[in-house]
Amino acid sequence: MIERRAIGIIDSGVGGLTVAREVMRQLPHEEIIYFGDNARCPYGSRTAEEIRTFTNQMIQFLLQYSMKALVIACNTATAVVLDEVREQLDLPVIGVIEPGVRAAISASRTGRIGIIGTETTIRTGAYQRALKREKPDLYTVGLACPPFVPLVEHFMLQTDEAQKIVAETLAPMQAEDVDTLILGCTHYPLLAPLIQQAMGSHITLINSADETAKELGALLSAQGILAPDEGGRAPRHRFFTSGEEEIFRQIGESWLGRPLELERRELEPLYLG
Ligand code: DGL
Repeated sequence: MIERRAIGIIDSGVGGLTVAREVMRQLPHEEIIYFGDNARCPYGSRTAEEIRTFTNQMIQFLLQYSMKALVIACNTATAVVLDEVREQLDLPVIGVIEPGVRAAISASRTGRIGIIGTETTIRTGAYQRALKREKPDLYTVGLACPPFVPLVEHFMLQTDEAQKIVAETLAPMQAEDVDTLILGCTHYPLLAPLIQQAMGSHITLINSADETAKELGALLSAQGILAPDEGGRAPRHRFFTSGEEEIFRQIGESWLGRPLELERRELEPLYLG
């Protein structure tokens, strides 16, 4: 039987597209089914209970489709519910924190690693714990950057205003003398040029998408469920958003460089809280 089940990818909005792009690049025969909860983005300032409820709703939605693995392409949801979701689902589930941690440790020369992310991701200390578990003598410092996700969701990636906001928000991190900075939110790679400019070209930025796609590929291959090359047949990728289709399409098509098969779907009940 040909393996045609899809890879499910979820995020609070367009951030998970940074992971989807890497999955498309590294695993070009895999189908993707993506849900972005743009209507309730940002998750980063929400309670753990809201993040749990919303994440479960996205997963329930995707379970209507035939899915062979799930990527929680949202650091905030990974930090709060990854373990629970793994216990509940009878599918391999990958988060984005462990892959980012591995990439940062292999990139850092000085052992001074910064993490930027949403308020929730930084507050949970999930990155700091995972980094220290791997290498106890690291110096780690976290900084929450709440203005960044709205910049991405409104597609303000190249404006002077965005540049000013990014530089001001990162000022405390610039003072920390780190050599490696983890983009601990999947939205942030879309702001990478501005973040690099603010931090300086000597700082290595870590985008966990690359490592996450590698881990996914290794897992599918170990389980013998990689999609085969069907003579150049392009896999179908489907995208769903709970928010406005037009802005999702603009960001998605520019980031992925292809037209999107996209539909708007509300998740019930839609708490806007
Ligand atoms: N993209 C998400 C993350 O990686 C969440 C951003 C948000 O909704 O606050 O944390």
